[in-house]
Amino acid sequence: FKTTVAALALSVAAGTAMAACDPGEIVVKFSHVTNTDKHPKGIAASLLEQRINDEMNGTMCLEVFPNSTLYNDNKVLEAMLQGDVQLAAPSLSKFEKFTKQFRLFDLPFMFKNIEAVDAFQSSADGQAMMDSMQRRGLQGLAFWHNGMKQMSANKPLVAPSDADGLKFRVQSSDVLVAQMEAIGGSPQKMAFSEVYGALQQGVVDGQENTWSNIFGKKFFEVQDGVTETNHGVLDYLVVTNIDWLDSLDAPVRDQFLTILNEVTATRNAESSKVNAEAKQSIVDAGGEVRQLNAEQRQAWVEAMKPVWDQFAGDVGQDMIDAAQAINA
Ligand code: LMR
Repeated sequence: FKTTVAALALSVAAGTAMAACDPGEIVVKFSHVTNTDKHPKGIAASLLEQRINDEMNGTMCLEVFPNSTLYNDNKVLEAMLQGDVQLAAPSLSKFEKFTKQFRLFDLPFMFKNIEAVDAFQSSADGQAMMDSMQRRGLQGLAFWHNGMKQMSANKPLVAPSDADGLKFRVQSSDVLVAQMEAIGGSPQKMAFSEVYGALQQGVVDGQENTWSNIFGKKFFEVQDGVTETNHGVLDYLVVTNIDWLDSLDAPVRDQFLTILNEVTATRNAESSKVNAEAKQSIVDAGGEVRQLNAEQRQAWVEAMKPVWDQFAGDVGQDMIDAAQAINA
């Protein structure tokens, strides 16, 4: 009885209907940190849950725990290696302890849009990145898109110098620390679940994120406005424990991976639309969205791009060149 109450409480807290896993089904826990609707990852995770539970009923049972209800991104990979969770989709900025290769994606103005990101990820270089953490026990399964990042603060940001002296929340990535330092900001690494409170209480002055995250977690409500900089990308790697994946019978693993790949293709094609809708929802809710003209945006490029030199050694100049060839 105790177990039932605890499990029920967890599922209520997670805001999900209790996925009734039958005895004998392989239970797959998928932990993530965002909201579920109007969000590229939230929608994709829910679709994956629905399809696995329909099409693999009796064999496999997927339970999604959104909104950091099970783990935040700083804990989920450790939990995965311990076998406490089987799937996660942290942003590419959150793999620093496991690989430095993904720093490429954090370099400001590396990719002009999500189509360029997709083209790079689909290349041999991008696909090889999914295998880059096997030695550490993690297997990448798919890249999921969110979108381009925007800047916000408790004062208008038009010129990069407007950021001077402001405290910014960043994800746990040294590239993002360097990027905020390049515009005179004080970066602070912080878990996603803590950002709203930190902005509200003035622990930090600003942040960068995609439209869907700024809308989904209501950051715009505690900021002066959001400036459309599109200065960087926020994308995800769906990742699993390699031993767990190997432990599945081949037909089960194949069906699971086929469904995952189909969900990836379907939802990645919609990510830009989901972010555009989130942006419109911010405007509709009375949030201030600021545009930059070409000259103003160029000032952000010039302020932030020197960061590339600091990390070329980690990511490899050949990777930067390959990304830029695709981005051209
Ligand atoms: C963040 O920490 O800002 C994002 O990585 C959250 C997410 O998963 O989109």
